[in-house]
Amino acid sequence: MYWALFSNELLAYSPPKSVSGYQCSMEMALGQIQSVELRQQQILFDGMNVPFFENRVSRQHFMDRAHACELDTNVDVRLVIRKYFEQRPDLDRNHPLELIEVGAAYGRVVDAARAHLNIKRLRAYEQTPKFIDFLKERYAASPEIEVIGESILKSRKRSKADLIFMMWFTFGEFSPQDQFRLLKKLRRLTREGGGMLAIDLPQDSRSSGGATVYTGQMEKRGRLIEYKMSIDDDIWYRAWLPDIRHFVEQSRRAGFTEIEDQVYGGGRGPTRRMFYLR
Ligand SMILES: C[S@@+](CC[C@H](N)C(=O)[O-])C[C@H]1O[C@@H](n2cnc3c(N)ncnc32)[C@H](O)[C@@H]1O
Repeated sequence: MYWALFSNELLAYSPPKSVSGYQCSMEMALGQIQSVELRQQQILFDGMNVPFFENRVSRQHFMDRAHACELDTNVDVRLVIRKYFEQRPDLDRNHPLELIEVGAAYGRVVDAARAHLNIKRLRAYEQTPKFIDFLKERYAASPEIEVIGESILKSRKRSKADLIFMMWFTFGEFSPQDQFRLLKKLRRLTREGGGMLAIDLPQDSRSSGGATVYTGQMEKRGRLIEYKMSIDDDIWYRAWLPDIRHFVEQSRRAGFTEIEDQVYGGGRGPTRRMFYLR
């Protein structure tokens, strides 16, 4: 999300050319691949952004960024709902649905889903302690909303959902290895015959470049996005931008057979891309 959330300048970034695109020896190629892998293994792990969210992101900050990205209009959630019902002409708009959200933060998507859908049950996964407390209190009187305060990757819950939301680049907060594990897990949680998973990603940049981009405290090296709030702050936000072709291929390997995408946004905020997986 912070790729889209903190700086529009970074949208001009495009991933480096593949190693094979350069005239280089096999040893050099392997060296580059290994160092990238080493770096991502050292840096990216489940829960890596918990200190950042816990200590740096207030509710007001979240709302301000949502406004800057136009997500305060819930355009993303409305698109997903429209797509879901287009695929299910057999269902009435009032049909009670079982939902999952991965990374609910302060409840923006939960609130939007409540405004537009008849919720039979919504499991909201969140792993940052202050968000968990906030969500539990906010939905204490709503038995249909179940706040699950742990990583989706650790959860043993198995009941399937009609619709799964993963909005605002939450997907990038998983390491490349975990992104595939996550897709497989979400496939198992998507109801057979009509269930849908929606994943919101930044629009993969088409511009030229490939060099390291350094904007203030935000650094994007290859597909790694790093951000810290101030220079003397040691608490980083880190995310991994998946290669779109690789993402689609992994989604298929995870068991999704129908994959569609839709580019949207770009008004007040950056252009985004919604993937619908079935
Ligand atoms: C970018 S915010 C998304 C906010 C919300 N989905 C929205 O669109 O308004 C990402 C959220 O995902 C949560 N998160 C990241 N990894 C998670 C995981 N493995 N399990 C549950 N929540 C996770 C973070 O704590 C953070 O609150």
